[in-house]
Amino acid sequence: MVRPLLLGICRSDYKEAARQRQGASQFGHEVVGEVIAHWGKAPFEVGDRVCLDPNRPLNRGTAFADLMPADGTEKELTEALHWVPRTVSLERAVFAEPLACAVHCLDRVSQALGGQLSGRHVLVVGAGIAGTLIALSAQAAGATVSLRNSGMDKLEFLRATGLLPPEALGQDEPPRPPPEAIVLATAFIEARWLRWALDAVAPGGAILLYGGTQQEDRFAEAGIELALDPLRRREGTVCVHWGQKPLTVAGSYGTEPSCFTRGLRWLAAPDATWALERLVLRRIGLTELPVELSAGGPKPRPGKVLVVP
Ligand SMILES: NC(=O)c1ccc[n+]([C@@H]2O[C@H](COP(=O)([O-])OP(=O)(O)OC[C@H]3O[C@@H](n4cnc5c(N)ncnc54)[C@H](OP(=O)(O)O)[C@@H]3O)[C@@H](O)[C@H]2O)c1
Repeated sequence: MVRPLLLGICRSDYKEAARQRQGASQFGHEVVGEVIAHWGKAPFEVGDRVCLDPNRPLNRGTAFADLMPADGTEKELTEALHWVPRTVSLERAVFAEPLACAVHCLDRVSQALGGQLSGRHVLVVGAGIAGTLIALSAQAAGATVSLRNSGMDKLEFLRATGLLPPEALGQDEPPRPPPEAIVLATAFIEARWLRWALDAVAPGGAILLYGGTQQEDRFAEAGIELALDPLRRREGTVCVHWGQKPLTVAGSYGTEPSCFTRGLRWLAAPDATWALERLVLRRIGLTELPVELSAGGPKPRPGKVLVVP
């Protein structure tokens, strides 16, 4: 039995509330909580802090609650709940799951490029929380990072946090030299950004589909035919030519247990590199959640809304 201490509202929660989300429910999953009781064999002690990987099989309730029951075999519990050191503040630990997804995405980038990210140039499209965490993880892995976003609000919010160098941020100007990898982390993957990425990526580079896709999303231009949703959700990899330029398009979905370990190690760093609390827009109580979620889909506002049960 887990008592949620702090939660983040994920874009998928807004989408789910607005009935815009396809796939299995993950309602209320960005949580850091405390184990308050266990029965049978459990990999945790009472008092341990944990966060949740919602992509692992586990019988559980939503974490948007005073209590989250979690029932599974020892292996299922070990894979779905990750131990959080007390040295990581709650306001950073609440980012553990989206950060683990970002870390996994960069593993997929490395696979698509066939090597380490250190010394490479990675460009991220989308300055929401997802894109920001991918850019920060790429920076931590030794890559040069650029981030692009159509609207100014998220860019200005991010600039004020000081988490990324100001020269890395921009609207839609293609960076020079061309990036070896481009991650599309917008709320929905639009054809215009995919076209932009195909133009902007270096020959032999990789484009990663990370942001939202719907079953019917297709991209068919200049001899390329991509079914975007299965490519992303099943983490496919395809080699294509855009004009004369060879490149790889791959998908990233969910995460792996080792990504939580790496992300939590970063979050425990004593310096300001991972001061993710600067991404918090505001805090609300559980009773305010229905109003927060009911305004018709993901909000255009920058920053993360936290729920304090
Ligand atoms: N693959 C995975 O494992 C994984 C994990 C976590 C999240 N995600 C997905 O990543 C995406 C981004 O998440 P986030 O939390 O960063 O969300 P977000 O804040 O809603 O997304 C921010 C970005 O999406 C753009 N955007 C907003 N509305 C849009 C629309 N209707 N069509 C296209 N783009 C739009 C924004 O541009 P403006 O600023 O110009 O409005 C901004 O660049 C979500 O779809 C989320 O589900 C994927």
